[in-house]
Amino acid sequence: MASSSFVAIATFAFLALFMGSSTAQLSTNFYSSSCPNLLTTVKSAVQSAISKEARMGASLLRLHFHDCFVNGCDGSILLDDTSSFKGEKTAAPNLNSARGFDVVDNIKSAVEKACPGVVSCADLLAIAARDSVVTLGGPSWNVKLGRRDSKTASQGAANSSIPPPTSSLNNLISRFQALGLSTRDMVALAGSHTIGQARCTNFRAHIYNDTNIDSSFAQTRQGNCPRTVGSGDNNLAPLDLQTPTAFENNYYKNLVNRRGLLHSDQELFNGGSTDSLVRTYSNSESTFNSDFVTGMIKMGDISPLTGSNGEIRKNCRKAN
Ligand code: HEM
Repeated sequence: MASSSFVAIATFAFLALFMGSSTAQLSTNFYSSSCPNLLTTVKSAVQSAISKEARMGASLLRLHFHDCFVNGCDGSILLDDTSSFKGEKTAAPNLNSARGFDVVDNIKSAVEKACPGVVSCADLLAIAARDSVVTLGGPSWNVKLGRRDSKTASQGAANSSIPPPTSSLNNLISRFQALGLSTRDMVALAGSHTIGQARCTNFRAHIYNDTNIDSSFAQTRQGNCPRTVGSGDNNLAPLDLQTPTAFENNYYKNLVNRRGLLHSDQELFNGGSTDSLVRTYSNSESTFNSDFVTGMIKMGDISPLTGSNGEIRKNCRKAN
């Protein structure tokens, strides 16, 4: 009796500790008294950036993903290189590819004007990602806040943590699993590729060498992506061939028709365990939307710095 109640108390204490140290400190009302105009300030900056260039919504969404996958959502992707570290901007998945840093600077200065020294850059990325999705016609959700910013960044960690477009289905599943994201989360989050663009270097092998691709689609893409490595590497093509600035479930319809642009995209519908989920999302925008939101909230929960860890950067590009 005594030992079983000890076990119960110990289990409870462990759970409380565990939950407290993971994500319990993030909350949707974190800045409601310290920066009451935060959400409207960010939204109007995001809307103005997207009205100048619709692709910017995709670029901002991807920044939050690349931030969270590298040592957690801590704003590390925003740090410029210094004499003591090489940052993430020049890591392979980001070089000549990650964009929107000037827009983040604009968001940060508008927020600093309203509430100096209060809101982290990591939280600004999370809010900007949500506002981008909403502005392009996708679902909305309440963003959990209270992340703090890292003081350093790691090019090596960015190279090893962000999945490459050559990934197999098993690789994709295990990369996401390692961060606490399920296969379902992974397939739903990949639906982000319903917006934005990719460079020829990232889809060349798929359109020339893979056989699980619609041949007329491959031919069209080959028209602006030469076979020779080094030629036209930065030429762009839309990840969703029809509507790259509208957030809906067309990505999955493309996959079912073997019109995924990246090798990794088509892996999600290639005779494996995720085919049925891709079909489900292709037929039900509401199921996709609700799983996408679940996935975004889980992704935003990856290893935040909270409490007295990290700092609130004044300038998102450098530690204070
Ligand atoms: C499943 C594994 C994933 C792989 C292998 C992958 C890979 C890629 C690649 C190679 C590009 C093109 C980059 C370039 O050519 O410059 C890209 C673009 C993009 N990715 Fe992913 N991605 C994945 C998951 C995600 C997730 C989870 C999100 C967001 C939650 C996301 C959001 C985006 C967006 C929005 C773009 C377009 C960005 C722009 O136009 O600026 N991706 N991704």
